[in-house]
Amino acid sequence: MSRQTNPAEVPLAAFVRRSGALYCEDVPLQELAQRFGTPLYVYSRRAILDAYGQYQRALSGRASLICYAVKANSNLGVLNLLARAGSGFDIVSGGELARVLAAGGAAECTVFSGVGKTEQEIERALRAQIMCFNVESDFELQTISTVAARLRRRAPVSLRVNPQIDPGTHPYIATGLKSSKFGVAYEQAIELYRRAAADPHLEVIGIDCHIGSQIAQAAPFEQAADRLLDLVERLEHQRIGLHHLDFGGGLAIAYRSDGEAPPTIAEWVGAIVRRVDARGHGGKTLLVEPGRSVVGPAGALLMQVIGWKQGAAGAFAVVDAAMNDQMRPALYDAWMDVQPVVARSEPPRGFAIADVVGPICESGDWLARGRMLSVEAGDVLAMLGAGAYGMSMASNYNSRLRAAEVIVDGSQAYCVRRRERVEDLMVGESIVPD
Ligand code: LLP
Repeated sequence: MSRQTNPAEVPLAAFVRRSGALYCEDVPLQELAQRFGTPLYVYSRRAILDAYGQYQRALSGRASLICYAVKANSNLGVLNLLARAGSGFDIVSGGELARVLAAGGAAECTVFSGVGKTEQEIERALRAQIMCFNVESDFELQTISTVAARLRRRAPVSLRVNPQIDPGTHPYIATGLKSSKFGVAYEQAIELYRRAAADPHLEVIGIDCHIGSQIAQAAPFEQAADRLLDLVERLEHQRIGLHHLDFGGGLAIAYRSDGEAPPTIAEWVGAIVRRVDARGHGGKTLLVEPGRSVVGPAGALLMQVIGWKQGAAGAFAVVDAAMNDQMRPALYDAWMDVQPVVARSEPPRGFAIADVVGPICESGDWLARGRMLSVEAGDVLAMLGAGAYGMSMASNYNSRLRAAEVIVDGSQAYCVRRRERVEDLMVGESIVPD
């Protein structure tokens, strides 16, 4: 991405600036950085539940289930907030299933997506009695049937169909292209449904798709919905009836405040619902699997400036967070909003254009590039819109300790994950004998 300067400092809704200082709900971020240390992920309870509530309102009056995509942010505290609000879950691994259950989530409101479920994961999910397997291949259908037969159960299945639509997002997060590894090929879907319907160990209950993430227009979702509904109608002709329609997740959030205007949650859900109703399928249960739009705007990553240095070609603010804490810039060249937590009214050195970089030994370790900044060592910066795919993609690269996580509720802040300690780094490792 080209070098750009910071747009107007308009924070996202969970974070507001009061007299120059950024707050999460009623707590100054500076205070949180001091109390819990940095790097620190901070989430607003109110913002998470607000977003969830928008989904609920958009779907009210019809049979529906919101299955929050756990991968976006899998902290137990976050999952528990959503479980208590009545959310279902979309999982992609046995680990995520364990998290949902530990957080008080309901297995019967959980769908299991992913292209490579192992036999062990399938067995665990069957025993937990999840709502549905979102099946992505013929081999998976076969494995699920075999495991279900062994356990003397009937496995509820939906086929994740690849609708072959270009959602116009980053290629790494476009999942419904003809060339994608995801879902069953559109042309094979009917045949696989026939096979599933004839299998005594499987119960066909739905159809699903997920065309990608950070999709900023409604049109690709509408096209995908139509493609899915075409199949539903062909299946109904063959007397294969479906109980639910799952349109996945993928709604974009506005990472920038200067002109990015993705559909709102209500507009996105409304667009899908209109297609479903227009084609006479309004009686079916509707599922969505939103991740980013629920937790993204609700989170920030706080980091402290370790030092400022002038390179031959530009300046760097070196911070104590890095690509191991937040991979999106390195992985997708993503633009993330980085702002000083306390704005300086009279900058000591004036403003300069700088890159915000971490301590990791990779040139890809940058968090923001070409930003107009005025910071000193010790200043705290906040990366906004970082609640989704931040901590959940964090690693220990360079043997760095993973950040702590905090949920703010009004004027209270709760640590929902303590900062890692050096001892945690080597858990499970050992040396070979002489
Ligand atoms: N359902 C399925 C089957 C998915 O694979 C995903 C995300 C979702 C739902 C939720 O999508 P969302 O509403 O969050 O867009 N790490 C990337 C995003 C990867 C998305 C993977 N799948 C990023 O940071 O942009």
